[in-house]
Amino acid sequence: DWTPDAFIETTIQALKDKIGDDKVILGLSGGVDSSVAAVLLHQAIGKNLHCIFVDNGLLRKDEFEQVLDSYQHMGLNVRGVRAGDRFLSQLAGIKDPETKRKAIGRVFIEVFDDAAHEVQDVKWLGQGTIYPDVIESVSVKGPSATIKSHHNVGGLPDFMKLKVVEPLNTLFKDEVRRVGKTLGMDSALLGRHPFPGPGLAIRILDDITPEKVAILQEADAIYINNLKSSGWYDKVWQAGAIFLPVQSVGVMGDERTYEHVICLRAVSSVDGMTADWSHLPYDLLAKISNEIINNVKGINRVVYDISSKPPATIEWE
Ligand code: XMP
Repeated sequence: DWTPDAFIETTIQALKDKIGDDKVILGLSGGVDSSVAAVLLHQAIGKNLHCIFVDNGLLRKDEFEQVLDSYQHMGLNVRGVRAGDRFLSQLAGIKDPETKRKAIGRVFIEVFDDAAHEVQDVKWLGQGTIYPDVIESVSVKGPSATIKSHHNVGGLPDFMKLKVVEPLNTLFKDEVRRVGKTLGMDSALLGRHPFPGPGLAIRILDDITPEKVAILQEADAIYINNLKSSGWYDKVWQAGAIFLPVQSVGVMGDERTYEHVICLRAVSSVDGMTADWSHLPYDLLAKISNEIINNVKGINRVVYDISSKPPATIEWE
């Protein structure tokens, strides 16, 4: 029978045998898989694991600082790279979802390659690939898929010529969480919702500007904080706010307003392949809506998405 303890013991020994005194670089995303992979590798090879955590400017409010801090508390050898301006300038004017994804994938590779070059004599690239990623390797989603689609574009960036080590590639998500728990990792980190690699870029159904990102971060933070304080965060599989490219009329005091709309999305799912919209309580939705409209300048209307997948998808882009 599979147990986290046995898995951890065997894997750490296998990683030591395989890697020896070599150096490994690994990109942390803030998500469960890359974090657990990093902690396992860290236990096996210590400071020879060099982690890189990129701020693409499209993360949730305060997330880069908070997650970087928790990585440092875990003792990981991690370098935080603030590259928000670089991503946002490359995204300027782009509305098409796939063009956004490609631009983000391209800039990520450039930024990661630059950071990787600052570590001398690296032999390995560590990745948090899990078993479903292996079987769905034809999927168009995810950073590794983005990287694959760049294979054909000519010269590979140097980090992609490294040998790959993927300690979680036989595990399912629930097993990864159990391994993380046994490793003593923070339950808040292990219980985090999935978050798309392109981040808030695909939750702004419009061209991306720093102002729209800031509005969406504020609204999303109000939403997520209310899910947490009401106990709903752990009951839904994924949740997030979406910035709609629509303006509608409202009234504030004696003034007519003409502002944007935020849509709230929450779903239950097992693997993201199918999903049902979550039946959040009306009083919770009312509280969130009021808080967003009263506190986020530029928003005067909030709607809730009641579509399931299929035929809708979880994200809007
Ligand atoms: P959809 O919208 O296809 O989303 O129902 C299913 C799951 O995949 C995530 N998602 C992405 N993840 N890069 C990612 O890393 C992407 O481009 C991307 N698009 C969607 C989505 O958040 C959900 O968990």
